[in-house]
Amino acid sequence: MRKINIAVDGYSSCGKSTLAKQIAEILGYLYIDSGAMYRAITLHGIKTGSIIGGKVDVEELKTQLTEVHVVLQYDPDSKRSYPILNGENVDKEIHSMEVANAVSKVSEIKEVREKLVNLQKKTAESKGVVMDGRDIGTVVIPSAELKLFMTADTNVRAERRYEELKNRGTKVGYLDILNNIKSRDERDSKRELSPLVQAEDAIILDNTHLTPEEQLTFAIGLINNLVSEQEA
Ligand code: DC
Repeated sequence: MRKINIAVDGYSSCGKSTLAKQIAEILGYLYIDSGAMYRAITLHGIKTGSIIGGKVDVEELKTQLTEVHVVLQYDPDSKRSYPILNGENVDKEIHSMEVANAVSKVSEIKEVREKLVNLQKKTAESKGVVMDGRDIGTVVIPSAELKLFMTADTNVRAERRYEELKNRGTKVGYLDILNNIKSRDERDSKRELSPLVQAEDAIILDNTHLTPEEQLTFAIGLINNLVSEQEA
């Protein structure tokens, strides 16, 4: 079967990565979490002191970009990809609130976007990629055969995220999460470079009232239709 590329974009904490991972596993495709790459650069800034208390020293961070190596390394045992920052697995650290509070600012920096978008485009060249993010269908893989744009009620998203972080053992308040989601949505949608917008040919998936199983069934249905149309 001919491989396609699938772009999953949308608002923060909509379950993009859950869905993208499931699709990739079913199809045997490569899953790329582009947000993890922006988070890894943000973590580097926090570790080196160019980001303190959510404040980003943009010029300092830019000078550090040549020394930042971010890769997503696939682990066949867990069937997951882990973000590796300069040789270190930072999967847990990149999901801290400290990173969440600065990552939208970091993702507004032109040089950061250029570095990561180039990497992401290269990964998608060989097809068979499911990538989630904010600008995948519009900028990174505008030729993706399937583009999903995910959304859900903000309070529902905050509740889901709260449960997820609580289960991971991260101590964080519900209101902090809600405010973080709202401010990231606002910044991501209003930024000048590659803002979060729905690609014209994207299909909207509002999962406010859907279970993960229902949304997966919806997405797989779309993929099956697409593939059978292409083979007809
Ligand atoms: O998907 P996420 O919540 O882990 O993404 C973290 C941040 O990274 C998000 O608030 C905006 C930025 N981002 C981006 O600008 N472009 C992408 N393709 C993915 C994420």
